[in-house]
Amino acid sequence: MIILGIETSCDETAISVVESKGNLENLQFKILGSALHSQVKVHEQYGGVFPTLAKREHIKNLPIVYKQAIVNAKIKEEEIEAITVTVGPGLEPALWTGITFAKELGDKLKVKVIPANHMLGHIASVLFDTEKITFPALALLISGGHTELVLLKNWAEKKIIGETQDDAVGEAFDKVARMLSLPYPGGPQISKLAEEAREKEIFVEKKLPRPMLHSGDLNFSFSGLKTAVLYYLRDNPKADKFAVAREFEDSVIEVLVSKTISAIEKYSPKNLIIGGGVIANKALRENFSDLEKRFPEIKVLIPDKSLTTDNATMIVAAGYIESLTKSNVNKLTADGGLKIG
Ligand code: KG4
Ligand code: ZN
Repeated sequence: MIILGIETSCDETAISVVESKGNLENLQFKILGSALHSQVKVHEQYGGVFPTLAKREHIKNLPIVYKQAIVNAKIKEEEIEAITVTVGPGLEPALWTGITFAKELGDKLKVKVIPANHMLGHIASVLFDTEKITFPALALLISGGHTELVLLKNWAEKKIIGETQDDAVGEAFDKVARMLSLPYPGGPQISKLAEEAREKEIFVEKKLPRPMLHSGDLNFSFSGLKTAVLYYLRDNPKADKFAVAREFEDSVIEVLVSKTISAIEKYSPKNLIIGGGVIANKALRENFSDLEKRFPEIKVLIPDKSLTTDNATMIVAAGYIESLTKSNVNKLTADGGLKIG
């Protein structure tokens, strides 16, 4: 069936049309077309996403992005057979804009509206270039708002086995970028500097901490690392930005990879899925892909770069899966703190 997906949980207004077929054992998705409007420029001046501004921008841009998505998908709107929309987690004023738009469109086209979990979307983003997921699967979700390890026994049974106790990893990237006077969002900027520092073999004298590396559980913490960067810059005002970016990124990579290895050893998954905006990071992608050498029995699934940051294509996959597992009847309400499970 032809499903239209809507994503407005943060600062991207995204709509995608995806032909979705099959059952939970044999999911098939074909992207027909999509459109996305990023609010990065609007929020840049605040160094982060400003919720009421995000809401206003989504309301303004949803009809435009919708028209563009329909054109790009080369369909008539009457061909849409279902709508799916992100209901959480995310910024509630932003989420409501998508939900309201979806409900009105659903009434107009007389099709059902399926609520979708954004984090399931980040997991499902790997389904666009992989045949299927083999369970049990372990997912590491790393975005601007979340850092969590999720164990999936199957599509219906999911459990968070580790999460951040403070900042999300993407948030740490963004805050450290701000300390280095780099523009928002900071992840891609830090990534660029770190790459260059590696090429030129530039590094800092003092190693930054690797928070929670030996905590004995699967939880994370990134606020101490952020503060360590702050103190380092205060004490070394002439520090090389490239070297600091590299050391920060190295610390993040070491912690994320090490915790993931602990989870692999504990739960023996068949697939390792990495989702969320931070996996756009080149060094992280390489480090996680390399885990296949260490664990040949595990297949590492990383989404195509175009589907790592927020998009509506992954939301269609999540909504379709949720309609099959029937885990979401009657929940067309924004829930900023919605958990996976
Ligand atoms: O998944 P996402 O698009 O939005 C949320 O659901 O939060 O993730 C956005 C986050 C931002 O913090 C951004 O800085 C980070 O992903 N990010 C990166 C890179 N590209 C985006 N972090 C590190 N390296 C990157 N190349
Ligand atoms: Zn996201």
